[in-house]
Amino acid sequence: MSWLSSITDDFVAQNKISLDLTYIVNPVDGRTFISRDDLDDFAPKVVEKHQMLNRGEGDCLDKGTPMLGWMTLPDDISSAHLDEIESAARELSDKIDAFVSLGIGGSYLGIEATFQALTDCFFNQLTQDRRGNAPEIYFLGQNLDPDMFRDTLGQLEGKRVGLNVISKSGTTTETAIAFRILRDLLEAEHGEKAAELIVATTDANKGALRTLTEKKGYRSFVVPDNVGGRFSVLTDVGLVGLAVAGIDIRQFVDGFRNMKARTDTDDFWSNPAMVHASVRHLAWTKGKRVEVVATNSASIYPLARWMEQLFPESEGHNGYGMWVSPSMYSEKLHANGQMVQQGERNILETFLKLENNDHSVPIPTDAENLDGLNYLPESGRDMSFVNELVIDGPAYAHFMGGVPNMTLGIPRRNAFNLGQFYFLMERSVALSGYLAGHNPFVQPGVEDYKRAMFALAGKPGSEDAGREIRAAIANMDRLIV
Ligand code: PA5
Repeated sequence: MSWLSSITDDFVAQNKISLDLTYIVNPVDGRTFISRDDLDDFAPKVVEKHQMLNRGEGDCLDKGTPMLGWMTLPDDISSAHLDEIESAARELSDKIDAFVSLGIGGSYLGIEATFQALTDCFFNQLTQDRRGNAPEIYFLGQNLDPDMFRDTLGQLEGKRVGLNVISKSGTTTETAIAFRILRDLLEAEHGEKAAELIVATTDANKGALRTLTEKKGYRSFVVPDNVGGRFSVLTDVGLVGLAVAGIDIRQFVDGFRNMKARTDTDDFWSNPAMVHASVRHLAWTKGKRVEVVATNSASIYPLARWMEQLFPESEGHNGYGMWVSPSMYSEKLHANGQMVQQGERNILETFLKLENNDHSVPIPTDAENLDGLNYLPESGRDMSFVNELVIDGPAYAHFMGGVPNMTLGIPRRNAFNLGQFYFLMERSVALSGYLAGHNPFVQPGVEDYKRAMFALAGKPGSEDAGREIRAAIANMDRLIV
């Protein structure tokens, strides 16, 4: 395997993502939810879909383009391209105090998830030195909440600001509005020189943002034609912002390469993507409609949020798909934990377990021991020990209560493990769409909300649709209590 970073064989061996199916394949009260035999029987079906993907076959077209570029991307990325990204990131970082990444959906979530997973929880409050000279990092364009927008602008006041506006289509309303406002502010302050503080990541040739980029002379990066938004974290979409935040993008690519090699194989049990996709698909056929994705790590929680986009946007077609519910444990154990244990048995649970923390927090002994916790420090246990049980305890209890669950083990927080994680999930969701019989690379349902929103906004060209929707709403019985 050829690596782009300086990782060693030992590092690779110590950083291997694992998938534990103990609480899927064992029986409860004599009944097994999905047995090893079920998985063996199902294997030929998923192997067939896996081979179709590898051959570039199947329902994978978006407007005539096969959307499979993400599959070979890990090996296609060159060191020279990473040099170019790193040097652009350095150049921009040297000029600014704060960097704003503008985008939504696939043009946003992977960057924020990776940034939050690998940096300090209070990154923007650290001194620049402790941030490794990186600027403060902000995200906008992911919603249209004016209060949040105004508060973010408040944080930017008096700071030298740089932008990366990311939109493959170049016309996404949320991103475009956010960009207009920030561009105006930068232009008011710096005039034509504002262009030096703006990076645009968009289609290579077409779209409104590409046109504007050429006109204004922004530095630009490309969203490849054959990679959809939610599969794009390894393209310039993710890499530019991550490099600005000081994340090791070479190690990130190596993580993708490593998982690509693991998931290239036709051997079912050696291929975690095929196993993962099979468990989820069989779970759906057996009535599971909600996937609780739970973690005990605040850094890993954003990965569950990334999954919340990747899976439903790819799977939610023609009545198929599981609702992904990201959950931070212990917090959620004191809320929807009750539902998981005793509510409707339509839940599959997936734990994202961070196996090693960066820090150990000792628990002090107490002379009075009124809370009875002295047994922990007295047996050498720290906070991580208890935090691990926040997964191990629920995994057992929920399984016994009728919620089958699997655990994805993430050895520690680093860019290599995140790269592995993303590629595994991308490969799994692609298989999932093929198994369900639909194209996982398009999202026609998302277009419906956009059409209704544009029509209601009075966008030129949408007048008829606007009239139709307003008339339909006017004909409805109003019931306001
Ligand atoms: O996964 C997807 O394709 C979507 O979530 C898009 O990334 C999202 O809608 C943003 O689109 P765009 O990059 O065109 O602004």
